[in-house]
Amino acid sequence: MSDILEVIKSRRTIKHFLPKFVSWDSIAHIIDAARHAPSCGNVQNWKFIVILDQNQKNQIAEAAYDQTDISLAGALIIVCAEPEKAERYYGLRGERLYSIQNSAAAIQNMLLEAQSLGLGSAWIGAFDEDVLRSSCGIPPEVRPQAIVAIGYPQEIPQMPPKYPLETLVYFHKWRNKIRDPAKYTNDIASILARKAHSVTEAMQKKGHSFSPQQDELHENL
Ligand SMILES: Cc1cc2nc3c(=O)[nH]c(=O)nc-3n(C[C@H](O)[C@H](O)[C@H](O)COP(=O)(O)O)c2cc1C
Repeated sequence: MSDILEVIKSRRTIKHFLPKFVSWDSIAHIIDAARHAPSCGNVQNWKFIVILDQNQKNQIAEAAYDQTDISLAGALIIVCAEPEKAERYYGLRGERLYSIQNSAAAIQNMLLEAQSLGLGSAWIGAFDEDVLRSSCGIPPEVRPQAIVAIGYPQEIPQMPPKYPLETLVYFHKWRNKIRDPAKYTNDIASILARKAHSVTEAMQKKGHSFSPQQDELHENL
């Protein structure tokens, strides 16, 4: 797979893994993708704890409020933020907001790299922080952001519903929707198809049955 949009769209959250070994090479590629993520002022205030030991994977699955299926993942990677580093340069905003965003960018890179390597992944955010901290020896100044589960999927779930593009986009001002998104994306084919359809309908209402010519369509744009 090489088209990035294809990788993005085909990635799914995998909850059930095959009990299969994930190579260190793959794990290294996934963390390499993480470290290339953008971060505020390039502070790169993240660390990654790789968990391969089965007993510890079980503990962590328990810490994740008994999401026991993740214990079958080949690797669990705890993504940790070091908020103090961002706070040094950006104050409260760095500590509270940018640190989370930095880690989120790194996590998404990991999921996408896993997908491009043919592996499944899950972003696990629901966990008891204290239990996770004690299992991994995470100090108080470091904040665990997510457990990333990596492994071979038992099955690929269907894509869950995603909102259509036109419901998510405003132009220039909050809530300002455009009447014709195709015009903004230069999607001439859609505009022509719609016009052709409306002209044909109008003709049919008047009793004509022929298809409109391209020239007429252009005039109607
Ligand atoms: C911040 C965050 C926390 C999440 N926590 C969990 C979790 O604890 N358990 C889980 O099964 N999925 C978790 N997910 C995955 C979402 O449930 C999943 O991304 C969503 O249902 C959409 O499915 P998709 O990833 O296949 O597109 C989390 C995702 C994010 C971004």
